[in-house]
Amino acid sequence: MAIQELLSIQGGVPLRGTVRVSGGKNAAVAIIPAALLAGEPCTIENLPEIEDVKVLKEMLTWLGAKVDFAGGVMHIDPRGVNKYNPPYELVSRMRASYYLVPVLLGLFGKAEVPMPGGCNIGARPIDQTLKGWRALGAKVDTMRGVMAAEATRLTGAEISLDMASVGATVNTMLAAVMAEGNTFIHNAAKEPHIVDLANFLNSMGASVKGAGTDIIRIRGGRPLHGTTYAVIPDQIETGTLMIAAAATGGDIVIQDAIPYHMEALSAKLLEMGIYVHDEDDRIHVRYDGVMRPINVKTQVYPGFPTDLQQPMTAMLTIAGGQSVVTENIFESRFRFVDELRRMGANIRVVDRVAIVDGVNHLVGCPITTTDLRAGAAMIVAGLIAEGTTEIGSTQFIRRGYENIDVKLRQLGAKVEWITRETNY
Ligand code: EPZ
Repeated sequence: MAIQELLSIQGGVPLRGTVRVSGGKNAAVAIIPAALLAGEPCTIENLPEIEDVKVLKEMLTWLGAKVDFAGGVMHIDPRGVNKYNPPYELVSRMRASYYLVPVLLGLFGKAEVPMPGGCNIGARPIDQTLKGWRALGAKVDTMRGVMAAEATRLTGAEISLDMASVGATVNTMLAAVMAEGNTFIHNAAKEPHIVDLANFLNSMGASVKGAGTDIIRIRGGRPLHGTTYAVIPDQIETGTLMIAAAATGGDIVIQDAIPYHMEALSAKLLEMGIYVHDEDDRIHVRYDGVMRPINVKTQVYPGFPTDLQQPMTAMLTIAGGQSVVTENIFESRFRFVDELRRMGANIRVVDRVAIVDGVNHLVGCPITTTDLRAGAAMIVAGLIAEGTTEIGSTQFIRRGYENIDVKLRQLGAKVEWITRETNY
């Protein structure tokens, strides 16, 4: 016998009302480890209370930092940090734990961090990260499942990434801040969380210029100090709520968002016939009786984000015709489609392309989730479907969506966490 947690959704209710978006997960998981570099206490605000942030708190505490986290605010005092080798049990719980490598390398001249965990959405190589660290003078070995890095001294360098990788850009920025001299990262990732990390580092006294463009310049070796900083709103949570509102035939206003970050999604929703209107930090999304099929190709920012591909695919299952979704970033990000099919969706997947033929409705049933954003897709599907959907493997949803049940209930949805005894 085991107790299983499920997210239960009674579908068919159009979302209506106003909701506030939480702080950005992917900004938070880069900024929290970076705070150790300050050598003085830092306060980070607007953090989402999600599993990934809680795991990072545990990791920093294990390394010797004093960390308090309540009400979305984390106080980090890094002065007691005295270890450079966090354990596998903690590191394996999230992908971004490898952001600790450049931080520990900068602080101690060495780091030993087990290879990162995270969502199973493709091979997720780290060759570009290794290239960045090595160019700055680190010796890095990845044998025995551990990233072991050493450097008596890091020196600024010109680095050209083969692809605009978020992970490699973050990892190189963090090492470059502690290197002597100038570093240029060419073909850098431009995602909003890269800009947020740069702003955070600058607020600690670093000199990072050009974040949000293809070339980032870092003047390394500057003295850093404590700071207070608020992370940006989560653009993937914002997008998920926009899609959920449109897909359920709803009418919502999302507050505390950055509409500029949502342009790729907004353009696609408008193409579908959905009303989208921005005003300052608010986005109004309304279904106006039409849901046309569209073609979507995932790209690096500012293109359509891979992290919204799955919830968008869930919505397209009920659009009025055939849509084509091409996943260009992660090769295994269509594994969730089997679950949508069980709910009545008509989807064929050929390699990295999903052909979605819209059906009249989905039908609720027990389903599982294969990764974090697949969890968001299952929530959208459950909200659309007739009857009850019970979503399993909820740990994925808890990794990245703060109070998602509360937020959806606030918009009128019938959603609750339930537990059930299983005999397997
Ligand atoms: C980040 O992952 C995000 N994670 C992902 O969000 C997001 O899906 C992804 O960027 C793309 O936007 C965090 O920020 C913690 P990449 P990351 O390096 O850094 C290839 C979520 O759901 N590549 O930009 O791992 C890679 O295979 C998560 O919140 C190499 O070939 O992504 C992929 O095709 C999931 N070699 C592409 O680049 C490398 O060394 C982009 O990956 C690095 C990447």
